[in-house]
Amino acid sequence: MPIILGLESSCDETAAALVADDRTIIAHRLAGQEAAHRPYGGVVPEIAARAHVEALIPLVEAALADARMSLADVDAIAATAGPGLIGGVMVGLVTGKALAHAAGKPLIAVNHLEGHALSPRLADPALRFPYLLLLVSGGHCQLLEVRGAGDYRRRATTIDDAAGEAFDKTAKLLGLGMPGGPKVEALAAEGDAAAVPLPRPLVGTAEPHFSFAGLKSAVMRAVQSGQWRDADIAASFQKAVVDCLVDRTRRALAVADAPTALVVAGGVAANRAVRSGLEQLAQAHGLPFVAPPLWLCTDNAAMIAWAGAERFAQGANDPLSFPARPRWPL
Ligand code: KG4
Ligand code: ZN
Repeated sequence: MPIILGLESSCDETAAALVADDRTIIAHRLAGQEAAHRPYGGVVPEIAARAHVEALIPLVEAALADARMSLADVDAIAATAGPGLIGGVMVGLVTGKALAHAAGKPLIAVNHLEGHALSPRLADPALRFPYLLLLVSGGHCQLLEVRGAGDYRRRATTIDDAAGEAFDKTAKLLGLGMPGGPKVEALAAEGDAAAVPLPRPLVGTAEPHFSFAGLKSAVMRAVQSGQWRDADIAASFQKAVVDCLVDRTRRALAVADAPTALVVAGGVAANRAVRSGLEQLAQAHGLPFVAPPLWLCTDNAAMIAWAGAERFAQGANDPLSFPARPRWPL
């Protein structure tokens, strides 16, 4: 049974994991960098890259030790090769290449978005292709028909900001700090989602895409007006995001090619209001709803190892010259 070592370093989490292709997560280790970026109110790419350099090899060693394994027991090495902050991506990819070369193992260069897109299959063995996936993270907001590993049809994307970015900016406006999404969610639990009138960009239109810039500006005006409680702004903002995500997903379901399930993945999929809005939508369409456990929604290396396992099963073996790609659409 093939065992894949996965490496992730495309944003501000450094992670290493060992996953077997029967879906056993043998070991997973992760180091965040929040404290290093906090003084700047956002992820600083240069600081992130340096932190990945320091953290990655110790995490690989720790994951191997947890599993009581050595590199010789691993069948392939999967590393995120993009998209993401290029300095961090290069750290993980070059580390993966070096380990693959030294141990004489195949390298699998994984698209980070593919890691998110396939992660629900790691969590749920019953999930079959094709499925309609809402991929919502800090950098991306897309609706994809996932037809197989490596076979994706993008049905919608954002024309401006990603949903996670809107959460992070709202957190900043409310002075909540990082990580934005979970802090807004916690504050929203104490607020009234109907209190603050906020727009739902593109909702109800025939156009398939997402837009969050107008919502972000409206949140800024609401904060500056001093008229509303912070908790009410957070709750109303979160409700507006959920309404946008659900409406756009409903539209995609109407045109999707026989999906077996509605699936959500990416960091924003950790949000309980988002999950429950989508779950109701799936129920209304008579479809199973699949969302990975919270820890598998945000960036991690188990999803990279799993995407590697799916590609390894297809015979993937990428050249050591594989480039790091800051932009890499699925
Ligand atoms: O997938 P991810 O870890 O990194 C990217 O590839 O972008 O997603 C991070 C994003 C951030 O914008 C973060 O604020 C958001 O996911 N996020 C959340 C929650 N947890 C993480 N947004 C809303 N509610 C949450 N509970
Ligand atoms: Zn991600």
